[in-house]
Amino acid sequence: MEKAWWKESVVYQIYPRSFNDSNGDGIGDIKGIIEKLDYLKQLGVDVIWLSPVYKSPNDDNGYDISDYQAIMDEFGTMDDWDELLEGLHSRGMKLMMDLVVNHSSDEHKWFIESRKSKDNPYRDYYIWRPGKDGIEPNNWTSIFSGSAWEYDEITDEYYLHLFSKKQPDLNWENPTLRQEIYDMMTWWLDKGIDGFRMDVINLISKAEGLPSAPGGKRYDWGGDFFMNGPRVHEYLQEMNREVLSKYDTITVGECPGASTEDAKKYANKEGTELNMIFTFEHMDIDSGPEGKWDLKPWQLSDLKDVMTKWQKGLEDDGWNSLYLNNHDQPRVVSRFGNDTEYRVESAKMLGTFLHMMQGTPYIYQGEEIGMTNVRFDSLDDYNDIEIHNMYREKVIEGNEGHDKVMESIYVKGRDNARTPMQWDDSKNAGFTTGTPWLKVNPNYKEINAKSAVENPDSIFSYYQKLIKLRKEHDIIVYGTYDLIDEENEQIYAYTRTLGDKTLVVICNFTENKTEFELPTNINYHSNHLLISNYNREDSKDISSIELKPYEALVYLLK
Ligand code: NOJ
Repeated sequence: MEKAWWKESVVYQIYPRSFNDSNGDGIGDIKGIIEKLDYLKQLGVDVIWLSPVYKSPNDDNGYDISDYQAIMDEFGTMDDWDELLEGLHSRGMKLMMDLVVNHSSDEHKWFIESRKSKDNPYRDYYIWRPGKDGIEPNNWTSIFSGSAWEYDEITDEYYLHLFSKKQPDLNWENPTLRQEIYDMMTWWLDKGIDGFRMDVINLISKAEGLPSAPGGKRYDWGGDFFMNGPRVHEYLQEMNREVLSKYDTITVGECPGASTEDAKKYANKEGTELNMIFTFEHMDIDSGPEGKWDLKPWQLSDLKDVMTKWQKGLEDDGWNSLYLNNHDQPRVVSRFGNDTEYRVESAKMLGTFLHMMQGTPYIYQGEEIGMTNVRFDSLDDYNDIEIHNMYREKVIEGNEGHDKVMESIYVKGRDNARTPMQWDDSKNAGFTTGTPWLKVNPNYKEINAKSAVENPDSIFSYYQKLIKLRKEHDIIVYGTYDLIDEENEQIYAYTRTLGDKTLVVICNFTENKTEFELPTNINYHSNHLLISNYNREDSKDISSIELKPYEALVYLLK
């Protein structure tokens, strides 16, 4: 397999609003990030993915951009940003910016012009259609609830917004728009950034004619007509030719609804599109047929199926990203681990499970200290537009009960990931001296970075070790993955193979002790315990092991 620095890297995602506030206004900022660069270096990560810091009215916390080449006032200035880049590079770390070009803000100058008249030169930068029979042009629902169309009186037409109505979709069919985007990307790369994380990049090509979802409902999910659309590969190849191929970058595309077959094209090994994508399949194993708010207990066998499909599917063609957390997902220790009695053990187990797979691992801020989901009593304490739109649709305009919907917010709401980073046990977890924009999780006195950094047995110290191991053992990056003991509903075990070496990874996903038998075809002699989350002694014979609650073990066999 071809080697590459971005395969060997570990990425750390910063959600700037919640990371660290340097000026006491309650909102994280760039200077705040700069103050924490040594912390990131100490953790050992190679690349920072910075969620959007561009000018934005913050309808969707920066994912609605009104100027792609300016910094949001609340986050600081372009000088601060230059200092951040310099601070990262001087410490040997790289910077990936968030590229949000499926849509802009409705306050972007392009949209302000576009809505003025049908013959405005910017009209065609967005997707405008006349109504049909007095209603929306088609029946698509927005990912943030309600219709995906907004009527605009000025020209008596509707514009498409797959997200909020303040996030109009850009019209990628327009070559002038595409060129503007490529120029903007080039401008950032010339400033010295090292790559892009591309927001919902597989939604940029919509099916010709924008057909309604079948079934005749007034509002329905139209994903088949805008996910992995007909021209998406053509656009990405053009972007690659025009921009990416001229730089040595790391790129990851966020691709909801992409299959492994799609991923092989997006992340093809010839490198004509992107380096890797974010799949959503493993994030859907606890959702019912109605989508993310339709809570469903998850099963280890489902996780095995999905992870194995992606590991095997991309091993010869493509490359995986590895993540269990980001700013859109609940905290993994609350979701797939145990956030009470076995919080530390299960957070370490989940880190092991993920970091030993083939792909580039992504850590989301706070994951490295085992931050958990939060339960605010009042809906008013939540900020996320997705939560509020969903609540309005289901409870205020619909007939679902408040308690049931609040429960789904506790389990799946995006604000679980967005509560401020817990730095220490002082007021507001050391995040701000002011009033935080979103309340701090009350468990910060126990869970915080300061105590984690000082403690050699902490989750932080364990993550340091996981990251270091990847640098020491090629097999962790490049080895071939194979699942073992497929049927086991308690233990997730797999091997990695490279040359004459084998790595065995064994993870107990339950709070019960359990026995594990290594398959007899694995030569378990002369093993070496690389890492474990209990103080387990190395042993010559690992043919049969009794695992403790949430125990994780990684052996290197030669
Ligand atoms: C995906 C981003 O990760 C999410 O936070 C955002 O709301 C949507 N795309 C829209 O940009």
